[in-house]
Amino acid sequence: ATNRTFTMLKPDAVENGHIGAILEKISASGFRIVAMKLTQMTKADAEAFYSVHNERPFFGELVEFMTRGPIVAAILEKENAVNDFRTLIGATNPADAAEGTIRKMYATSMGENAVHGSDSDENAAIEGAFHFSGREMF
Ligand code: CMP
Repeated sequence: ATNRTFTMLKPDAVENGHIGAILEKISASGFRIVAMKLTQMTKADAEAFYSVHNERPFFGELVEFMTRGPIVAAILEKENAVNDFRTLIGATNPADAAEGTIRKMYATSMGENAVHGSDSDENAAIEGAFHFSGREMF
């Protein structure tokens, strides 16, 4: 069925000038952009967004990284969007990511891995609503 996923082009991808190339790859893979903006998360935003990871040893580093510069936040729609987007971005660690995936092509490290993709329909809805109001979704 057609569904939606949520993505962020993370600060490393923006700093390294990869916004255009990554959006091109997303579009070419059949995703429709439902919502999109350049924004920057505050420390409180990142702590809330990643609260599921707050006991992890890398939590502080993750919050620091995700707040250090602007991100592109977007909601994407496609048949099987959540799973297909995770396939398109590749493994969390770019060293393990398949050839041709966004992380393989553009990520720097496990921590600075260029792009986020929701892991379920439920989280896609929560994460999309975290960044966008109803009138910013089309
Ligand atoms: P993502 O899966 O988008 O959301 C959680 C993020 O935490 C993940 O991307 C990585 O950027 C980061 N992360 C996960 N595991 C580690 C780790 N072992 N060290 C540093 N960062 C990590």
